[in-house]
Amino acid sequence: MSPSPDTSVLLLGAGGREHALAWALARSPRLKNLYALSGSDAISDWAQRLPGNPALPEQIVAAAKDRHVGLVVVGPEAPLAAGVADALRAAGILVFGPNKNGARLESSKIYAKEFMARHGIPAARSQAFKTSEAAKSALKDWPAPVVVKADGLAGGKGVFVCSSRTEAAKAVDFLMEQKGAGPAGENVLLEEVLSGPEISALALCDGKNFRLLPLARDHKRLQDGDAGPNTGGMGAFAPVPVSKEERAAIESIFALALGGLRADGIDYRGVLYAGLMMTPQGPRVLEFNCRLGDPEAQAVLPLLKSDFFEAALACAKGELGEIRLEAALGACVCVVLASRGYPQKPEPAGKISGLEDAARDRNVLIFHSSTSARERDWSGGAGRVLGVSALGHDLAEARRRAYAAADKIKFAGKILRRDVAAGAPVAAEA
Ligand code: AMP
Ligand code: GLY
Repeated sequence: MSPSPDTSVLLLGAGGREHALAWALARSPRLKNLYALSGSDAISDWAQRLPGNPALPEQIVAAAKDRHVGLVVVGPEAPLAAGVADALRAAGILVFGPNKNGARLESSKIYAKEFMARHGIPAARSQAFKTSEAAKSALKDWPAPVVVKADGLAGGKGVFVCSSRTEAAKAVDFLMEQKGAGPAGENVLLEEVLSGPEISALALCDGKNFRLLPLARDHKRLQDGDAGPNTGGMGAFAPVPVSKEERAAIESIFALALGGLRADGIDYRGVLYAGLMMTPQGPRVLEFNCRLGDPEAQAVLPLLKSDFFEAALACAKGELGEIRLEAALGACVCVVLASRGYPQKPEPAGKISGLEDAARDRNVLIFHSSTSARERDWSGGAGRVLGVSALGHDLAEARRRAYAAADKIKFAGKILRRDVAAGAPVAAEA
């Protein structure tokens, strides 16, 4: 591909993933200006912030036109589900992120299941329900353990792995009667429980071609040893070593998915994220997402040797076939620091100290999920506050560096897992 002329980029979103995206985009020599709408204070290191709501299509089109932006990179799922990419494409602006029809793979789990069945993609057996009575009466055919899932976007709060029928009935009531996950729980799925290690497989897609990013593992539970409630993710590492056969099986899932999308008339350009369970029978898809994972992005993007901006632009143009995506040797580990009470009732973290000291190791990158600054005096918000990522020759070294940096950062009520990437195989990916 001929080198693209210098281009300005508008990045949508404000979390840790978007901070990592800003860092990755800003490294490109071809990037002219980087704008972030509605980026965090921390994103100002690499981007000029614009006010606005990333999920309002007209606002985004106006902002992109106003700044003569050549590419819009969408971080979170909400703008995609709201049709922001559709509006930009209709206005002739290149976008890294699928249209609303593609984003349905994430915004409706029932649709995603039908899609997988239609295109022969290996997934857990499941059944969809429109009423709580029907779901609860079907529990007799779904002996525990069973998974209860909200159909819609629930920010990680819509999945319950239940060990008894009573627990499953409670989860159905929570979603459908008490509307515990809001409109996301209007319809639910019952699903068979699968077991095995999980992998977050993320691929860049241009509608026809895909390129896998280094395979990652997220640590979803709050506490060490995978105890406690599910969260948005307490840490991640990459690459996850897999055998040649496993890699081939993962690639075939993406080939089926992208082929299926095309057969369904969907020109999918952006990230396709498959949440996989590596069962003894091979990988099974637990979910598709239409964006980079968070914190996975904070472990995967630092490993990319290739120019991420060029790759994102190639996806948006449908020219990924001309790009080789190269990852650096070695590994990256990201440890999330969250505030007291996360995920149920997070409290603001307040004053943060030690950031400069932690960043002194040049193998360390600190991504901000929820912070604000006054004259470089940082305060943490409620929820996930920071992601401390570190590179190393192998996972063990990356892990040591990430924890050494994470321990230098202090705020009241800091929560972190101590076992991110613990016991992970040391060998690099096959
Ligand atoms: P999801 O949002 O569908 O990926 O679900 C969130 C988490 O719930 C997953 O990362 C798994 O840890 C767990 N989970 C989801 N579906 C299943 C399943 N069928 N069997 C076992 N665990 C599951
Ligand atoms: N870390 C899981 C996700 O981004 O969906």
